[in-house]
Amino acid sequence: MLTLQKEEISVKIRHLAREKEAIILAHNYQTGEVQEISDVVGDSLGLSLEAKKTNARMIVFCGVLFMAETAKILNPDKKVLLPNSAAGCSLANSITPESLDDWSQKYPEHTVVTYVNSSAEVKAMSYICCTSANAVSVVKSVPSNKILFTPDRNLGAWVKKQVPEKEIVIYDGDCPVHDVLRSPDLVKLKERLPGAVVIAHPECREDVLQLADEICSTTGMISRVAKHPEADLFIIATEEGMLYQLRKKFPDKEFVLADGCIGCKLLCPYMKATTLEDVYRSLTEERHEITISDSIIRDARNSLERMLAVPRD
Ligand code: 13P
Ligand code: SF4
Repeated sequence: MLTLQKEEISVKIRHLAREKEAIILAHNYQTGEVQEISDVVGDSLGLSLEAKKTNARMIVFCGVLFMAETAKILNPDKKVLLPNSAAGCSLANSITPESLDDWSQKYPEHTVVTYVNSSAEVKAMSYICCTSANAVSVVKSVPSNKILFTPDRNLGAWVKKQVPEKEIVIYDGDCPVHDVLRSPDLVKLKERLPGAVVIAHPECREDVLQLADEICSTTGMISRVAKHPEADLFIIATEEGMLYQLRKKFPDKEFVLADGCIGCKLLCPYMKATTLEDVYRSLTEERHEITISDSIIRDARNSLERMLAVPRD
């Protein structure tokens, strides 16, 4: 339940968004109160598609930098705002144009497939992008059989298992929020909650994914819950914010967050950086605007457009 002050600020945000012809997009990991003031809540792929089709004059992206950059690349003529400039991503930071250049030079015959959790510059150096929702289809769609997959090694390993016919070399990056979860912790939780359905994000480690009943993107988790009408208890192995959407969509079911270690939940500090106050200030002052050079936009857009042309899994 929102407090009065939060209710007031939420009303002001919605009013300002209308006045400024802005669309507010929020990732599934945002806090519940930020999700509530947004026009669309979704996963990386869904939000990219929304950003591409919107007629709004301005996009306020409640998520992290790489997502706001993706929106800008797909909408170079629109103003794209990231309400909190500290909202980065450790996984995106694990690969730089220099490290990609060094690594790819060792594999001159391979085609670079880059997870959208990466900078605009890295996207610009890649043949095609993917998200957790379409990674398998994207890799299958690449004409070459030799792939360099960047930057997430867990997602890469999961894709590799499903596309054994291709030679896939994987970069050594990870999301520390997901990578902290280990199979012994999940085994203990499953023992405590017999019969619970386990749904995991493919950024989790391979030993964790082996214990999962369903593996999918964040928004994919909503349809996977619906696939199990008989179950009323679910263990969710992804960032904590996802539980807000799941509990809202399925109020009669119980969702338990998988735990990385005692007292250390799967919480992404970057995703939790954005507050209602940040969104309000962002709209009022039109800050922090995303700017990317024309040449990076052109090249990164090619790899994003190739991805968007691939039919969904
Ligand atoms: P989704 O693409 O599944 O929304 O995941 C994004 C992300 O940052 C996962 O950590
Ligand atoms: Fe990046 Fe991990 Fe946070 Fe997703 S959960 S935004 S991959 S640090």
